[in-house]
Parts: sequence; C-alpha cells; structure tokens
Amino acid sequence: MAMDNKERRNILVTCGPGLVEYLMGEIEQLGFPIIDSHKGGVITKGSLIDCMKLNLYLRTAYNVLFLLKEFRCGSPEALYKQVNILPWEKIIDPDNYLCVLSRVDTYSINNSMFPNLKVKDAICDRLMKKMGTRPDSGPDRHKVVVNLFWKKENAWLYLNTSGMKISDRNYRKMPHKAPLRECLAAGLLMAAGYDGSQHLVLPMCGSGTLAIEAAMIAQNRAAGLLRSNFGFMHLLSFDEDAYKQMRVDARKMSDRKGLQKKIIATDIDPAAIKAALQNAMTAGVEHLIDFGVCDFADTEVPEGDGGIVLLNPEYGERLGETEELEKLYKWIGDFFKQSCPGYSGYIFTGNMDLAKKVGLKAARRMIFFNGNIECRLLKYELYSGTRQIDKQADVEEE
Ligand SMILES: C[S@@+](CC[C@H](N)C(=O)[O-])C[C@H]1O[C@@H](n2cnc3c(N)ncnc32)[C@H](O)[C@@H]1O
Repeated sequence: MAMDNKERRNILVTCGPGLVEYLMGEIEQLGFPIIDSHKGGVITKGSLIDCMKLNLYLRTAYNVLFLLKEFRCGSPEALYKQVNILPWEKIIDPDNYLCVLSRVDTYSINNSMFPNLKVKDAICDRLMKKMGTRPDSGPDRHKVVVNLFWKKENAWLYLNTSGMKISDRNYRKMPHKAPLRECLAAGLLMAAGYDGSQHLVLPMCGSGTLAIEAAMIAQNRAAGLLRSNFGFMHLLSFDEDAYKQMRVDARKMSDRKGLQKKIIATDIDPAAIKAALQNAMTAGVEHLIDFGVCDFADTEVPEGDGGIVLLNPEYGERLGETEELEKLYKWIGDFFKQSCPGYSGYIFTGNMDLAKKVGLKAARRMIFFNGNIECRLLKYELYSGTRQIDKQADVEEE
C-alpha cells in the first residue's frame, strides 16, 4: 500500500534570498499556515495532495519539500540506518529513477557526495531487500528526488515534490542575454505592486520574462500550468485524478479574457524581441503583450491613469562599459521625468554607483539577488507636476 497522501506534515518551500516575503504572501493566500521562515524558505504544513497545489500555483518558489523524517545524526552510519528504516517500498516504485540532493554542514563531512551516496544506498538496499529490485540513480531531477539537509547533529529528509525547480515554468525556449529567473521576475512584479489593474511598461524587456510573468499574474493564471512533469508524479501515492481536477479548477480561475490595462514590452535589440515573442507564444500570452523594437526612450507610455514602468538595464561586469552605462542610467532618469508622469518607476540593478546617475531620489530600495549578485529594486515616484519632480531631483545618496 502506498504512503497516505492526506497525512499532514511540515512542508519546506524553498526560494531565493530576497523572495521570502513574497513567498509567504503567496502561501498564505493559498490558505496554508506559515509555521516558520528563514532567508532560504518558508515552512508550512500540509499533505502530499497539498504539495501538488503548492507546485501548481506558487510563482516565487524553487522547490516544495515534503518532510519524511527529522532525526539526530552523528555519523554516516547513523544516516544510513535512519534512512534505511523508512518504508521506501510504500513511497517509490523500485523500477523508478532516484536522485539524491544534499546540503551538509557537519563536523565530519566536507562534501555532499558522500552523504548523497549513503542516502541512495540506504534507499536502494531497502528496496532490494523488500522488492527484489532497486531504482537506477544519478543527478537527473526528472523523476524521484530526495533532499537531505544535515546540520551539525540534526538531519531532515524530504521528498522533493517539485523535482526540477518550479521556477522553471517551461516557456523559456529562446534564451537571450542575462535573462531573469522566472521566480525573481514574479517577485519583482509583486514588489512593485503589479496585479493587472494598472498599465505596465517594460522597456529593455530582453527575452520577456517580466512581461510573461506579468501576463500570467494579470490573468490569475497558475504558474505551473505549463509544466507537464513534477516530482510528485513519480511517487506511488500520486493521485492522477485529483491532480487533473486541480488543473481544471486552476484553468477555471484564470481570466482568459483580454486585459483591461496594457502590458508594453520593448527592447532595442530585434533578436531580444524575437525571443520574447516566441517565449510568450509558448506561454500562450503573446496576445496580451504589446511588443516593439525601439530605444527605451521611445517606448509608448499610456497617458491618463498612471501605472508601473520597470527597467532591468545591464549593470556592467566588463571593464570599459561603465562610461556608456553611466550615460544610459542618466537617460533613464530623463525618460522617467519627461515621459512617465503619474507612474511609479522602477529600476532593477546590481550596480548602485550606476543607479546614482539616474539623478532622482529613490522612494524605496528593495534587496533581491540575481544569482549571487546583490541587487536593488529602486522605486521612484514620478509625480505629474514638474515642481514635485524638481524637488525629488536631488541625487541618489545610497
Ligand atoms: C539585462 S537585459 C534584460 C533582461 C530581461 N529582464 C530578461 O529577463 O530577459 C537588458 C536589455 O536591455 C536592452 N537594452 C540595452 N540598451 C537599450 C536601449 N537603449 N533601449 C532599449 N533596450 C536596451 C538589451 O538589448 C537587453 O535585452
């Protein structure tokens, strides 16, 4: 008999640094409790069925990890024993494929390969003994994935119900330079307060991640609908009918009509717009976005009721780029002042020296990480009257 998929346990939902606040908001909105949080994730509670829902809906998460066991662990032998006594024959099919991932911070072991091997052996030996056969194993995350966290004398073993990170939504078939991760793009839009009820202008849209995530938010479309593979599908307890129904419900909740307000996405590079359009088509949202090739300063900014304008300019890691980029950031400031009255302007950048060149005082500075680069989402209130613009034109002081 398979493991009970309605039994409630702790669930660790992981995310990138800077996204915890938004992930907590999403988890609460889905009706789950917040038990704890730290910079890499949020602990909630629910069943394996609930894990399907979290995987289907969450925008800012990496992985949804269902707790199998928490235990004291002082040695690799103890690790093997604690993992081996779990009823793996009720959890995974021995003909399946297994991937073990671990994060280890303990005295005796300084790399994760050895604990990975111990966990894999403990699972495979158990299945061999009980079922007469054992799964293949390796680094591929497309089937069963098990995560171990081992810190000092404590260990936590999780079923990774996502498999591949859910930040990979499956629409980005055409890469372009420096694309944002989907979960980060969603987090930036949430931080900017975007919910589809305001115009959204995205000059420098690159391969379109922000525009596509925005269209999905505006349509209230579950982020995981494009994914056909999750880790939970490879568990013996997988209830396929319940998941199909969950997808039907998610589709019903999504507003398939056109949007009331515009999403405008432009880039100076035709290849970027080609990639963005292709990605938007894969996501099924191309009809909701007005794409265009132009300099950012020529982007249409709808007049009247304001909105959000968000730019993710390059921030220069190569020598000799700085001078050009300094000019670009100054021009962004001019564009905000001249073309975006009544809007909230946002710049997402990893270079605060360049941000100073914008020449406007940021009303908010929110910290995010793009890979391992600490970045800021800077907010500028772009009032309609010139007097207010003059007032805030003291140079960025951070
Ligand atoms: C860091 S990338 C943006 C990546 C994007 N957020 C994504 O997820 O794909 C910066 C983009 O700005 C564009 N760009 C640079 N200078 C520009 C300009 N003057 N006007 C419009 N776009 C520009 C580049 O072509 C590039 O696609």
